[in-house]
Amino acid sequence: MKAYRVAIVGATGMVGQEFIKVLEQRNFPVESLDLLASDRSAGKKLYFNHREIEVKETTPESFKGIDIALFSAGADISRYFAPLAVQTGAAVVDNSSAWRMDPKVPLVVPEINVEDIKKHKGIIANPNCSTIQMVVPLYPLHKTNPIKRIIASTYQSVSGTGIAAMDELTNQTKQVLNGQTVVPHVYSHQIAFNVLPEIDVFLDNAYTREEWKMVEETRKIMHDDNIAVSATCVRVPVFIGHSEAVTVEFTNSISPDEARRILSQSPGVKLMDDPAISLYPQAYSAAGTDDVYVGRIRRDVSHSNSLVMWIVADNIRKGAALNSVQIAEEMIKRDWLRPSGG
Ligand SMILES: NC(=O)c1ccc[n+]([C@@H]2O[C@H](COP(=O)([O-])OP(=O)(O)OC[C@H]3O[C@@H](n4cnc5c(N)ncnc54)[C@H](OP(=O)(O)O)[C@@H]3O)[C@@H](O)[C@H]2O)c1
Repeated sequence: MKAYRVAIVGATGMVGQEFIKVLEQRNFPVESLDLLASDRSAGKKLYFNHREIEVKETTPESFKGIDIALFSAGADISRYFAPLAVQTGAAVVDNSSAWRMDPKVPLVVPEINVEDIKKHKGIIANPNCSTIQMVVPLYPLHKTNPIKRIIASTYQSVSGTGIAAMDELTNQTKQVLNGQTVVPHVYSHQIAFNVLPEIDVFLDNAYTREEWKMVEETRKIMHDDNIAVSATCVRVPVFIGHSEAVTVEFTNSISPDEARRILSQSPGVKLMDDPAISLYPQAYSAAGTDDVYVGRIRRDVSHSNSLVMWIVADNIRKGAALNSVQIAEEMIKRDWLRPSGG
């Protein structure tokens, strides 16, 4: 089997370190692995398949000879380096928000719109974590009974903000328990023992950018600009795993049993729905796993064609590193690494 020269940009970060794990766990065909980060991390040692690899600073020369570059170092780094990587012949899978809504860039969840990869011009965007886990179970339902409207409230873990936020929750928790004063650095307010309805910046329409990503990205991935979406995104003091309460209005009536039947056969979805024994998805148990878990499926008593459900996934895996590696695997499998012409 052919193997590929892979680079990870942002290898020292929350998502970057998960990239390394996912490549190992899935036996990705790696010929060589370059681990790139900022100059602050140059010289640091990380491990891939028990082999020590020295982290290098990301420079325009970093991509010479690279076949696949996995980016997770923020939107500014992607905006600058991804086109340079493409110029030198690499296919880029980008985790940042930089290219997601660019009409020339496919935004892909392999379970939903794998064919979109084919049209890439060098960059394929990985959607936002809260969008990915919502659309994985909603798309198979949408195919049988078109969705008209989605109302989502999210409970997003601090790992979604990166390593600094994980440290902040740990430190603040200790400080509160020890009766010390808490000074927030990463978030606007204390996150320990608190919930914050602010993820990313506030926009002129009073939504946050995270909420707006769920509106725009859902439509782009599901190829349907008519789906109405409204989201409230909330940061909660959980380390890993995003949870979402989602109300979905369909064109026609659908029973919870019918939704369960469809979801039990849907790729990437695991049903976990037995209230009698308190069985429902939880962030704690989803952490470190690959599936999107769905439970608490019930009729919306306020609308005859609507269902309510609870959706949980590991935001670092399916929400970021895993989804990106799945995109790269599909590109290899279908011989789509090279950009399409036209
Ligand atoms: N966390 C999630 O759930 C999630 C989900 C989807 C998408 N994403 C996206 O993935 C990206 C990374 O997120 P994260 O959570 O992994 O953040 P993180 O833990 O803060 O890591 C940031 C990474 O970017 C690197 N970096 C910073 N400045 C750089 C520079 N000038 N040149 C090269 N590398 C640089 C850092 O390297 P140093 O260690 O050297 O500073 C580090 O490896 C973001 O765009 C984020 O929006 C995250």
